[in-house]
Amino acid sequence: MKVFSGWHRFIFGLPLLFILIHMYYVMEFYKNSKMEVPHSQLNKKFEHLVLGPAAGQGLSNRLQCQGTKALNRSGASNSRSGLDESVTFVTVFTIYKSSLDNVDDKSSKTVVGNASYNKVDRSMAVLNVFINFIQVAMPRSKVVILTDPASDLSVHRNRVSLYPIQGEYSRDKLMLQRIRSYIIFLETKLQNLPQNPRNITHYIFTDSDIAVVDDLGQIFRDRPNFDLALTFRNNKAQPLNSGFIAVKGTPDSILRAKLFLQEVLKIYSSKYINASRMLGDQLALAWVVKSKPHFDARRFAKPLAFAEDIGDTSVLFLPCALYNWTPPEGAGQFHGMPLDVKVVHFKGSRKRLMLESWNFYSSPSEIEDMLCLILGSGRTKYDF
Ligand SMILES: *[C@@H]1O[C@H](CO)[C@@H](O)[C@H](O)[C@H]1NC(C)=O
Ligand SMILES: *[C@@H]1O[C@H](CO)[C@@H](O)[C@H](O)[C@H]1NC(C)=O
Ligand SMILES: *[C@@H]1O[C@H](CO)[C@@H](O)[C@H](O)[C@H]1NC(C)=O
Ligand SMILES: *[C@@H]1O[C@H](CO)[C@@H](O)[C@H](O)[C@H]1NC(C)=O
Repeated sequence: MKVFSGWHRFIFGLPLLFILIHMYYVMEFYKNSKMEVPHSQLNKKFEHLVLGPAAGQGLSNRLQCQGTKALNRSGASNSRSGLDESVTFVTVFTIYKSSLDNVDDKSSKTVVGNASYNKVDRSMAVLNVFINFIQVAMPRSKVVILTDPASDLSVHRNRVSLYPIQGEYSRDKLMLQRIRSYIIFLETKLQNLPQNPRNITHYIFTDSDIAVVDDLGQIFRDRPNFDLALTFRNNKAQPLNSGFIAVKGTPDSILRAKLFLQEVLKIYSSKYINASRMLGDQLALAWVVKSKPHFDARRFAKPLAFAEDIGDTSVLFLPCALYNWTPPEGAGQFHGMPLDVKVVHFKGSRKRLMLESWNFYSSPSEIEDMLCLILGSGRTKYDF
């Protein structure tokens, strides 16, 4: 496994971390199970796009595709975008000086489209495509990258800023650090509230391996009464994904969102510190939510948004199907892509698909056609 060798010296960007940890657990799973899976198939990762059938065919509320041609036009993408200045995306991302040592190693070059990437480039390319999609879907929004002050990151893009936060960014601690960084960021916002109380900035904390494909300002416009939003899916053990957390920008909501995250951090540190590195925060989120007396977890079975007070915080639960869409891994059920999907999450070994999708979109093409590309390719495992 070339990709493992010395990687910890190399890079601590979240997307790559996700791939590696995911690969590790998939491998452990198969090692421990009695299933006979041909080794060649199991580890097959493609270095080019593989287009399979588009799931959800014939379902009226799902995107219908002919190859990479969408038969439905949602038109949602341009409805109000361009107007909303009130949203800032926040992500945690860091790259280290030591990672720049081996970048010219030929064996680690990867080609996507007409560009060649080493490991650091790949991680940076994911970050740049993350920003590209945001700037198409919500051109007036901003992006803040929370990073390690020791990191060697430089990003020169309009409406994008770096915000260094002192902390522990080692592989073991990264998810813990991420929640800490979110809390510290919210604290600084409480200390610097806008002069004009009507000039409010909402925050959306996300993984950097997502594509925003529609205006997310509508969450805040349509649902005036929540403090913090999470995305849920129909999964008993892990109903909540930590890759998308929206926070309303009023002082009260920022404070309550911060208190909620502090509770999650407390539970993470006390109960799940030894859980797998990636899952700790999701398990802690679920624990905090389910600790509410009489919380009805059956609501996670249906992809319909709902709100619930957890402690003093009003939490809006948004379906992953729209706000954190990712095709299921392996043989899970797969009912296609909702027509009004807003966020696509390129989890695990789908980072190549994220870059290819951007290239396809900017070739130029329509967002819906690109969604057909993603729908048809999303179950394939790629080489990074
Ligand atoms: C999507 O397109 C298909 C094929 O043209 C059509 O049958 C279906 O009604 C469309 N769905 C919507 C919601 O427009
Ligand atoms: C290929 O390179 C050219 C010039 O550098 C660039 O304009 C174009 O967008 C690239 N195409 C793809 C698919 O990346
Ligand atoms: C609103 O607040 C942001 C940041 O707090 C500031 O950059 C911007 O200039 C303000 N806009 C108006 C219209 O006051
Ligand atoms: C985590 O593991 C360490 C070492 O194995 C152990 O000392 C500690 O008590 C564990 N913590 C929790 C909360 O289980």
